[in-house]
Amino acid sequence: MTQTVSLEPEDEFDLHIGPIRKRIGGDEIPMLAYNGSVPGPTLRVRQGSEVTVHVTNDSDADTTVHWHGLRLENRFDGVPGQTQPPIPPGGTFAYRLRFGDPGLYWYHPHLREDYGQEMGLYAPIVVEPANAAYWPPVDRDLTITLDDVLLEDGQMVPFDRSGPNFAAMGRFGNVLLTNGETTFTARAAVGEVVRLYLVNTANTRIFRVALPGARMKLVGSDSGRYEQEAFVSSVLLAPSERAVVDVRFDSPGQVGLEHRTPERVYELGSFSVAGAAASFASFESLRTDPELTEIRRGLGPQLEREPDKTLTFVAEMPGMHHHHHHHDHDAGDGIEWEDTMPEMNRASDPSNTVWKLVDADTGAENHQIAWTFTAGDTVKIRLVNTRESDHPMHHPFHVHGAGRFLVLARDGVIEPNLAWKDTVLLRTGETVDILLHVTNPGRWMAHCHIAEHHESGMMFSFDVR
Ligand code: C2O
Ligand code: CU
Repeated sequence: MTQTVSLEPEDEFDLHIGPIRKRIGGDEIPMLAYNGSVPGPTLRVRQGSEVTVHVTNDSDADTTVHWHGLRLENRFDGVPGQTQPPIPPGGTFAYRLRFGDPGLYWYHPHLREDYGQEMGLYAPIVVEPANAAYWPPVDRDLTITLDDVLLEDGQMVPFDRSGPNFAAMGRFGNVLLTNGETTFTARAAVGEVVRLYLVNTANTRIFRVALPGARMKLVGSDSGRYEQEAFVSSVLLAPSERAVVDVRFDSPGQVGLEHRTPERVYELGSFSVAGAAASFASFESLRTDPELTEIRRGLGPQLEREPDKTLTFVAEMPGMHHHHHHHDHDAGDGIEWEDTMPEMNRASDPSNTVWKLVDADTGAENHQIAWTFTAGDTVKIRLVNTRESDHPMHHPFHVHGAGRFLVLARDGVIEPNLAWKDTVLLRTGETVDILLHVTNPGRWMAHCHIAEHHESGMMFSFDVR
């Protein structure tokens, strides 16, 4: 069972990090947990509230907690050595959190994220809108974390003390966990409308979530509503991305929650649909968000003008020859689904891979990048995921709470449906333009959210005055 904690404004909450043994399949796996469970407790708060979270680290490694997607005060952002010292084993830290935007967020460690997150340290945050009419009415909701873990002989495949292993492709798991379980099941009634808050907490894996047999209406993204609600057959979620979907079950029986790749269908869980519930006629209508519609009206000049910054995503594999570009093998959608990776590429995951973000205007790489913005700026950033890399791959790009962004265009094609985001997927070879609304002062991070890429250096910090 997943736990949910409802926090009132000014509440104090204790979050304890410690080892657990978790039953997965037939095995007892040593893992790490927030308050004893994987996922940790879902925090439910009202927009505009502030709470204090007292973290105690009873694990054997330094850690911090990052509140992914929240535009909070910089010193509570959880970046070790930048916004705070690491929390040592036995140590504590108090985070003051402000929840200014409605939507779906999550928390996880920001130190050896490849280790902590894989070991089980992650949990959702649902920020209820101040105005209840913000979301369409539903009967109830469920938060769902999507994860995978890499197990071998009943153990987590070990982690390297000195740095992330699987640095090239990231750590794809071989066991999928939905809300921490291999056998996720839930009940629903015919006609009922259930809101799913979906979070991808995997280190590397992209999920394409489908619910054949139910109807799925996409209503929200990382940070609040979509410009235009839409009925969809699946939802693509890169690591750390979120989606809010309203689901209606139209007939009784079993409805599978699926992850679909071009190669195969994975069962993530299932809903048993029985009995009947009164239904909301409003489910059939598709709403638009007035704020985002208004923004689109004024977007012309932003679409036309040159980007203020351009970042290139590249890999270098020292000592490797530059010949095995595997993009001929990808499934055609620019996503390296684990099951479509050539065997050779999977087996030889060189740990000496260097992942780089390069400022195309200055040539500065990773931590050398020095950007300074002013709160109130609107910055157009072009993200270029080149195929001419030693190891082309997809990268989910995440910007910390300096602001929030809109995806403007992909490969020059204007994004049809706007939403406030903090993470965007760059498929292999893709160029994505984003518009970052800078709001919060401080020194903030931006990085690839494949945990192994991030921990291999694919990150930088920028200043907001
Ligand atoms: Cu979800 Cu810098 O992280
Ligand atoms: Cu990456």
